[in-house]
Amino acid sequence: MTIIEALLGEHGALYPLFDRIEALAQKAELPELKLHAALLESTLISHADLEDALLRPEIQPYVPLTPGPTDHEQIRAGLKRVGAAVSGDEARRCLLGILAQTRAHFWKEESIAFVFARRRCLWSCSRNSPRNRRASGEYRLVEAAVCGATRMDRSAGDRNEGDAQ
Ligand SMILES: [Fe+2]
Ligand SMILES: [Fe+2]
Repeated sequence: MTIIEALLGEHGALYPLFDRIEALAQKAELPELKLHAALLESTLISHADLEDALLRPEIQPYVPLTPGPTDHEQIRAGLKRVGAAVSGDEARRCLLGILAQTRAHFWKEESIAFVFARRRCLWSCSRNSPRNRRASGEYRLVEAAVCGATRMDRSAGDRNEGDAQ
């Protein structure tokens, strides 16, 4: 199993949790909403830390940088805001917003970052094989898509787009 497959498996396990929390949040009181946020935080943090440690270094040199907090940092801060909320409505609004943001972040990873990382691995592994030319072509296509469409996260690596050349 590759790291990408492991991360995708974690996404698959987290989606039902998102579904359940979204359903329960509609009628939940403040203490329950805070409990949901704490549960989400405990599961998402380990997932995000794994991505930061293993995935980001793979794609960081090729992904355009933008200023500001990373998606992971924004999600974590949003869950902290739920914990600090003083009313059920405030906590619910924040919690549902963070879940929507997390779903969007997962989509971005699954449709771009993971694809990119997988292609990069394929390209690296097949450099000396007869498939090299084709793999390299796929890699370039995905690289172009990633650089033109989005970024996974702001990185602390401080490389610029020119480094991808
Ligand atoms: Fe992530
Ligand atoms: Fe993820």
